[in-house]
Parts: sequence; C-alpha cells; structure tokens
Amino acid sequence: MSRTQPPVLSHPQRIAINGYGRIGRCYLRALHEAGLAERFRVAAINEPADLASIAYLTRFDSTHGRFPGKVEAGDGHLLIDGQAIAISHASTPEAVDWAAHGIDLVVECSGQYGSRAELERFLRAGCPRLLLSQPGNSAEDVDATIVHGINDASLRAGARLVSNASCTTNAVVPVLALLHRELGLENVLLTTLHSAMNDQPLIDGYHHADLRRTRSAMQSIIPVSTGLARGVERLLPELAGKVQAKAIRVPTHNVSAIDMVLQFSGGADAARINALLRSAAEGAWRGLLAWSDDPHASIDFNHDPHSAIVDGGQTRMVGARLANLVVWFDNEWGFASRMVDVTRHWLERLAQAREA
Ligand SMILES: NC(=O)c1ccc[n+]([C@@H]2O[C@H](COP(=O)([O-])OP(=O)(O)OC[C@H]3O[C@@H](n4cnc5c(N)ncnc54)[C@H](OP(=O)(O)O)[C@@H]3O)[C@@H](O)[C@H]2O)c1
Repeated sequence: MSRTQPPVLSHPQRIAINGYGRIGRCYLRALHEAGLAERFRVAAINEPADLASIAYLTRFDSTHGRFPGKVEAGDGHLLIDGQAIAISHASTPEAVDWAAHGIDLVVECSGQYGSRAELERFLRAGCPRLLLSQPGNSAEDVDATIVHGINDASLRAGARLVSNASCTTNAVVPVLALLHRELGLENVLLTTLHSAMNDQPLIDGYHHADLRRTRSAMQSIIPVSTGLARGVERLLPELAGKVQAKAIRVPTHNVSAIDMVLQFSGGADAARINALLRSAAEGAWRGLLAWSDDPHASIDFNHDPHSAIVDGGQTRMVGARLANLVVWFDNEWGFASRMVDVTRHWLERLAQAREA
C-alpha cells in the first residue's frame, strides 16, 4: 500500500521492530526498563527466528541478564507481562501487513536496509515512518541522521526515514563537538576497539564476504572496515577532511572503547580537557555523557545507558597540541537507549505538531 501522508498517531503509540537480534531485543527491553513500554507499545516484531527461540532469548540474555518481566510464547504472539506482541517471520517488508497492526513507527534493526530505495519499501508496505539502527548508506538515503543530545532540533516531525547513526558516532560526536567548540580541533584520528558482533563466527566459517569476518571472533583481534569518519563528518561538517578512523574487533561480548588522537589548533592540557568533559557530563549532557577516573575495565560499563563514558585517567598529552583520550560505551545498551530517546523525541514532537 502506498501512502502520501502518514496516518494520525495512535494512543498509546505503536511500534514494530524489524530484526529482533541484539539491538532489536535491547530496544524492547530498554523501553521496559525506562518505564516507557505502556506509552510506546511494541505491537509487532518481524524476525526470521521461530517464536520459541524469540521468547527464550527475550527471557534470558547472556550479556544483560534476565528480562525484568514475565515473558511467554503465545499462539503467534510473544506475551510480555500478559501483553501480546504479534510475531511474523517475513524476509521482505512487503510480506508484513504493518497497517493491520496500526503501527506508528518501525524500528529497523535487521541491518539489511541502508539505501533510500530499500528503506522506501517499508513506506510503500504501509509503515508511516522508520527509525534505522545504522547510518544510511549516504546522508541522502535518510531524511535525517540524529545523534541524541546533538542535533535533535533537526528532526522534523514530518520526517519519514531517520537514522540513529552508529554506536561509535553516538560515542564520539559529543566529545568532539565540545572540544572543537572550546579548543579548536585540527585533526582527529579515531580507533574503535569494538566487541564481537553476530556478523562474525565463533570459530572460522564462511560467514561474511569480508574475509577478515570469516575468522573466529573469540580467537583474534580483527581489523574491520568502518564508516566512522564519514559518520562524524555527517554530524559535524565543520570537521570535514580532518577525521580518519580505524576499527578493530576484540574478543569480548559487549562494551567497546574509542582511542582518540586529537590535534588541537592552539594550546591545550589534560587537566583542561578533563575539566571540560567532566563539567558537560555533570551538566548539559548528564545522562548522555559520563566521566570517571576510576581504574576501569570494559565490563564495568556493561548495561550502561550512556552514549560515552570518558576515562579521565587515560587522558594524555604529547606537547601542547596533541592529546590522546579514551571513551568507553556499551555498544548495545547505550545505542538502544538512544534509539528509545529518539523514538520518544520524534513521536512526541509529531503529536505536538498534530495538536497545534
Ligand atoms: N550490536 C551492536 O553493537 C550494534 C550497535 C549499533 C548498531 N548496530 C546495528 O544494528 C543492526 C543490527 O545489529 P545486531 O547486532 O542487532 O545484529 P543481529 O544480532 O544479527 O540481529 C539482526 C537480526 O535481524 C534478523 N534479520 C535478518 N534479515 C532480516 C530481514 N530481512 N527482516 C527481518 N529480520 C531480519 C537476523 O536474523 P538472521 O540472524 O536469521 O539473519 C537477526 O536476528 C546492524 O545494522 C548493526 O550495524 C549494532
């Protein structure tokens, strides 16, 4: 079904999740843990896996622990605290009757759709609007790319295709935006140390077209490609041409770090950098950015909802203009929490626009 105008919002607002893997499940759970599951009700999930496995992996999670509620498999439904979520197993957007579920927003977490042509298939199939758990292939493939706390104002109520950027973009953009504004950045080199993902096999296997992603995730440190530099420049065009990035997968299950090499245009020092970031973490960006100088290991941030936690004890300088910083982030939970924030912001803005 093709639509020119999205339908009026339902109450409570109804969400569908397409692709119920790590991010899809964290999103549902983050809605529950934030006390928002009544207001933003997940009414449908489309995922290839069978219902018994969907219920099982909702209930038990090796990384985030047991689901904080009663989870059961019904007849074509997942039941959470008695509330039914319709389950379908389609491999294409056209094979799901989104309109029949009265969906206000589809949260696309399969990782299979990055171009506007692919994403518009959801709109033609009856989805009024879609929030993507990855960057669009290019900036033009979506109506907006939002890093919550940075550019929410550019999210127009009438947008149809919105990207939540990547977990790494959410982690670095607040830090870079602040330090560029206060101290002036000349060059930025980012190295992501990212925990393993489901696009890697446990032992060597024909799992991916990228040869390095055919290698055992738990045996090696594995360099992979990354679009982080482009992602940062999309959000901070003032840094265009000044950012490079590398990504390395490491054999942990969750929580990642970004090692940042920052060249400032003028003088800087570690104490000033830490003071700026700490003050933002305790003030304007409380809840998004955190700061700590405890002696951390990555596991300390499992299930942490912040976009980034600055490890103040790791800030170093070489001379007066070259700094090295480390930020931690829960690549699953932090990112899913931002998807919940953007959901809330977008649908509330839309409701206000409709009432005005
Ligand atoms: N994990 C992270 O840390 C993280 C953080 C930020 C963003 N992301 C992004 O979020 C997306 C999902 O990542 P993930 O880690 O959640 O992956 P995942 O655990 O592999 O989950 C993806 C799920 O989608 C299902 N799926 C595949 N094709 C589908 C289709 N056509 N329609 C509906 N469902 C489909 C997959 O089923 P099969 O396994 O049967 O194919 C799988 O269950 C990716 O774009 C990733 O880059 C991930």
